[in-house]
Amino acid sequence: MGEVQNLQEVPLITPYKLVSFTGTYSLESVLVDVILQCEVQKHNFHHYTIKVVLAPLTRMKSYENVPQTHAVLYYAQRTTKGGLLIAEGTVISDTAIGYPNVPGIWKKEQVEAWKPIVNVVHAKGGIFAGQIWHTGRVSNTGFQPKGQAPVSSTDKPISPSNNGLHFSAPRRLSTEEIPQIINDFRLAATNAMEAGFNGVEIHGAHGYLIDQFLKDQVNDRTDEYGGSLENRCRFALEVVKAVSEEIGADRVGIRISPFADYNDSGDSNPEALGLYMAESLNKYGILYLHGSGNNAVVANHADLVVYGRLFLANPDLPKRFELDAPLNKYDRNTFCTSDPVVGYTDYPFLDETNSA
Ligand SMILES: Cc1cc2nc3c(=O)[nH]c(=O)nc-3n(C[C@H](O)[C@H](O)[C@H](O)COP(=O)(O)O)c2cc1C
Repeated sequence: MGEVQNLQEVPLITPYKLVSFTGTYSLESVLVDVILQCEVQKHNFHHYTIKVVLAPLTRMKSYENVPQTHAVLYYAQRTTKGGLLIAEGTVISDTAIGYPNVPGIWKKEQVEAWKPIVNVVHAKGGIFAGQIWHTGRVSNTGFQPKGQAPVSSTDKPISPSNNGLHFSAPRRLSTEEIPQIINDFRLAATNAMEAGFNGVEIHGAHGYLIDQFLKDQVNDRTDEYGGSLENRCRFALEVVKAVSEEIGADRVGIRISPFADYNDSGDSNPEALGLYMAESLNKYGILYLHGSGNNAVVANHADLVVYGRLFLANPDLPKRFELDAPLNKYDRNTFCTSDPVVGYTDYPFLDETNSA
């Protein structure tokens, strides 16, 4: 850990590159992760020493899709001055839901509920990106309005018994319906800005809706959103374009995972997919990483390193790295319970551990 986290001054270069690190989520899963570089500049990020970024982590504690006040403490605990946090996946519409109690950002009530959470991160000097998300076919009729089928690029269902979750056969979106979904992403981004976030990360990874368009083992469309690589990337790029036009490209990031196959979302040529996306994103002026994991960090190619589970379990992770202090172990059994405290805001800080 030590060699990665020598907390020197971060050089002000473009783009900032985020690397996800270690674990069962393969390093290659996060080939491209783009984020908010101008916001970081605006906050004079290079004067700070915080390279440790909070990864987006779904916690399923936003009852009825409304963020709750217990999230104020959770995010406050993980904020360090100058540090970047990416909020948990936040659904963009009532058709985007695929798990219980995930936060949304399509209704005024949800936007208002995000405000105190964003405010506390800012009050502590943090930079906060919202993550906007549509799960597509990683859902079931129980989560969908009027018990309808979830929507996707395809009508092919996910294989049964994937993680013990139940997924319903999806309905293939018609070509004419796609602009509406893009508009939902756009509105969600506007709402995120209204809530006070510094920008948004579009969730284009891990087999969710955008990835369902990107990957050739899922996307079996015959219209202009399917078939060739260019066509499969069209939806993702139209979302990026719409969101960028709405809130400014310098506030927009996208997470994609060409090499991952979560939720039955493999691709026969992930490298070509990653490269094409990276090149195309360039045109929109949003900034990206092309590289992966350990090698990038060791070669000092990563400016910021994103931590998920370790940050979940260590609210003061940057400080612990700085002091080379021992880390709390995470308990995966409490990752996604609805409890507002246990495994959420009760992981001890270093001082508490020492005095215990
Ligand atoms: C409980 C849990 C929830 C997650 N939720 C999200 C999410 O909402 N959005 C996302 O892009 N990734 C999500 N991820 C993936 C993490 O952002 C991260 O990539 C992963 O945990 C690997 O990093 P780590 O080894 O530092 O934990 C989640 C991971 C975990 C363990």
